[in-house]
Amino acid sequence: MSIQNLNTQAKTAISLFLLFVITATISSVILLGLELSGQKDGLNIPTISQIQNKYTMPSLVAAMKGSMYKEVTADEDIETVHHWIKEGAKQEGELYNDAWKIIQSDCTNCHSKTSKMSKAIPSMPFDTYEQVLTHTDAGYSWSKMSKQAHIHMFGISTFLILISLLFAYTTYKESIRTAFIIASFGGAFLDIFSWWFSKFIPELVYIIFTMGGVMVTSILLMSLLVLANIWKKQD
Ligand code: HEC
Repeated sequence: MSIQNLNTQAKTAISLFLLFVITATISSVILLGLELSGQKDGLNIPTISQIQNKYTMPSLVAAMKGSMYKEVTADEDIETVHHWIKEGAKQEGELYNDAWKIIQSDCTNCHSKTSKMSKAIPSMPFDTYEQVLTHTDAGYSWSKMSKQAHIHMFGISTFLILISLLFAYTTYKESIRTAFIIASFGGAFLDIFSWWFSKFIPELVYIIFTMGGVMVTSILLMSLLVLANIWKKQD
């Protein structure tokens, strides 16, 4: 059996589904690029150092280097805040005074329950020490990881099984079909698990980078190869 034997309606539905998947995959890369680079538009392919910031740094520092960079007055301020957190993020001493001053002058005009700015985010206030402290843990927290992991794993596995089944019934060589299917699921699994563990083993950011790339490439290639195969003229 091959997908080439399907009728035209089934082929049309599958092709439209694959176009959605391709667009969604490219959109997710665009979104990640915007989030990591702090840019407003364009395709910003993530770099290793941006991924390092996101998964191994406290979220406050990662944001100052990435999505919130344009709000930071001076580059040294990022180091000052990072240093305060590395030394335990205590509510006393000179490190605290310096970091607190930066957060209050650069961030709380938006990050405050009482902010009147149009771009404010009152749901994430930095008004008190305790509120700021919740953003000083390195990498993904237990709750962020469980949230991100289940959303991604449910979502990715659902369309990946569909693409894999379609690809399994193409007329490509058996070894190629097996390799792509394993690469896509394996890449996704290793990528997602490294999000969490990279705060303990920083070298895992290379796995995030590589496996993220393997996953995206294999999804795009499988989709395109199915499209090419399904509409190929049969002899
Ligand atoms: C102009 C208003 C504004 C200022 C100033 C601002 N933020 Fe934000 N911040 C936002 C908004 C809106 C979001 C949520 C959406 C987004 O990510 O753009 C956000 C999200 C965040 C997040 C969540 C994770 C992320 O990267 O999106 C962190 C952490 C953060 N800000 C830290 C900071 C820090 C630290 C400063 C000061 C250097 C700062 N913000 C200054 C508006 C602001």
